Amino acid sequence: MSEDNSSRHAVDVSEAQIAVHWREEAYFSPSNRFIAQANLTDPGVFERFSLDKFPECFKEFADLLDWSKYWETTLDASNPPFWRWFVGGRINACHNCVDRHLAKHKNKTAIHFVPEPESEAVQHLTYQELFVRVNELAALLRDFCGLKAGDRVTLHMPMVAELPITMLACARLGVIHSQVFSGFSGKACGSRISDSESRVLITMDAYHRAGQLLDHKEKADIAVVAAAEDGHRVDKVLIWQRYPGKTSSPTKLVPGRDVVINELLATYRGQRVDPVQLPAEAPLFLMYTSGTTGRPKGCQHSIGGYLAYVTWTSKYIQDIHPEDVYWCMADIGWITGHSYIVYGPLALAASSVVFEGVPTHPDAGRPWRIAESLDVNIFHTSPTAIRALRRNGPDEPTKYQHHFKHMTTVGEPIEPEVWKWYHRVVGKGEAVIVDTWWQTETGGFLCSTVPGIHPMKPGSAGPGIPGIHPVIYDDEGVELPIGSGRAGNICIRNPWPGAFQTIWKDPERYVRQYYARYCRDPNSKDWRDWPYLAGDGAVQAADGYYRILGRIDDVINVAGHRLGTKEIESAALLVPEVVEAAVVPVADEIKGKVPDLYVSLKPGLAASAEIANKISASVVSEIGAIARPRHVIIVPDMPKTRSGKIMRRVLAAISNGQDPGDVSTLANPEVVDTIKGLAK
Ligand code: WT7
Repeated sequence: MSEDNSSRHAVDVSEAQIAVHWREEAYFSPSNRFIAQANLTDPGVFERFSLDKFPECFKEFADLLDWSKYWETTLDASNPPFWRWFVGGRINACHNCVDRHLAKHKNKTAIHFVPEPESEAVQHLTYQELFVRVNELAALLRDFCGLKAGDRVTLHMPMVAELPITMLACARLGVIHSQVFSGFSGKACGSRISDSESRVLITMDAYHRAGQLLDHKEKADIAVVAAAEDGHRVDKVLIWQRYPGKTSSPTKLVPGRDVVINELLATYRGQRVDPVQLPAEAPLFLMYTSGTTGRPKGCQHSIGGYLAYVTWTSKYIQDIHPEDVYWCMADIGWITGHSYIVYGPLALAASSVVFEGVPTHPDAGRPWRIAESLDVNIFHTSPTAIRALRRNGPDEPTKYQHHFKHMTTVGEPIEPEVWKWYHRVVGKGEAVIVDTWWQTETGGFLCSTVPGIHPMKPGSAGPGIPGIHPVIYDDEGVELPIGSGRAGNICIRNPWPGAFQTIWKDPERYVRQYYARYCRDPNSKDWRDWPYLAGDGAVQAADGYYRILGRIDDVINVAGHRLGTKEIESAALLVPEVVEAAVVPVADEIKGKVPDLYVSLKPGLAASAEIANKISASVVSEIGAIARPRHVIIVPDMPKTRSGKIMRRVLAAISNGQDPGDVSTLANPEVVDTIKGLAK
């Protein structure tokens, strides 16, 4: 497939243009009422976490956790960029999220599970019930599956209470979970199974989405076949029933391989499993994410550093108190859900809402009905969801008696107009908002205002959080001064406990992609020489707030979900008629960005709707419905440079209704007008 570095600039240009539209916005202040109860109001925190206090300042993070053996070394940075946090310590994540709360909070709700059908009752799972269910499942995983610390297990589960239960049961044993977003296809799940070498797949028979009960078990069968094609065998598929005691999927069980968890659990009733205490830097989970190549990267997160990081940021940036009812409307299949539905809130003994459905189904009042009835006071969602709720029900929030003290937005840049609706209408002017910028790789928030300290500025994430020291470099590695107004590549100067440890089975790619670009000396043993490259463009205003402009690599952020253009192109190339494929991001009112897919066919083949549909179907079956292209545009030839590279910049301009600029240096400038006609 052709490489084309100019595709980066296509993304830069359109994002930067959006950003230029955004004037410097006026500040909004948190209310005195919020500040009076906030966990963090002391501006001295930034002094406590200044670079000269690094790394010892992070003791404060670790001290939010229970350690079975306290650690000795805060940071071992002797082998950059493979950082080891809280070395010498031993810890168990499940103990920290469940067992340690029993003394004070056993009868408090840990998880409110809200099924999509409004006719079904909400399930309120107390910490004691969570403890019982996690233990029984851990016993099953250990004794029936033979799983032990360090083994990997792939989960392909929807948004149900059984998902955090399964994650915590794995964590209790030290088994590394790798949850794959339920919307991903069976094939996408299969390639993650084989990459992580999971012998066990845990799934659910069915789940509700947008009014339909979807058969999910069928994807497990496809996943196992896909893994086998990679030469990897799955021994057991464990299937949760969406309705215990009942089968909700028409897909048959495979004898000897498939087991219904709900039936088998009876054998383990009442069993208890001691949490397995592991070194702080043992892996807790893998989370696959998209990058520049077609192969997803398994980001490996540690137990101690990760849990300390999400717990501290949940407490001080999300302002979670144990008595709060907290609802993050993300999916646990993404990092947001791992960090800020499961591990962070539960480590703080909060009540965390798990919602099965789609926010706008059956209508855009649904989230506010849930918030009202559960008395949710902290709400967390993405700009895509906010845009969809605003479009479908701009006045809906005013009809309900919910009151949020705090709201989070995450995953994409938020337009100031959308931010203001979120503040005025959803938050009723009472809620403080944090716009949190971070990534799968970073474990938790990097930039955000501290809600009890900083004023908010619509469209800007804010400064680095305490302990995070961002810097913007230009392409030559020169630091852009604060308030320069120039866009550059945002990096983090220092390691932090939540950072991923490596890419599973690919440490070289980890070094190359995240640390090589601005490394001052590859032989250096000094962490100061190893800034972390986030892969986003950003500008920093004079007040120190960062505004994130979007990805600088071949990644498209669709509805806050990260898709690799190469993954989509590879899926298109599986269709035998296709010889070339190029994906470009198109601005979308709701989803932020959507992919347009340009393809050229084998000589002699005519374009047809049938071929276009086949290509679209291939993308959905290889990756999942979230990657479905807006349009498949069959072109006679791709615009190319004289050296034969596809000019994605030109295609992106056409898709976005912009002027492709000077194309006279192309090898085939005449094709541009033809493509313009086809893309209409
Ligand atoms: C990419 C990471 C962070 C969890 C969800 C996404 C974009 C993330 C913001 C924000 C503007 C943002 C970046 C980043 N992004 N948060 N507040 N403002 N852009 O995790 O799938 O790893 O995606 O999402 O481009 O690199 P992810």
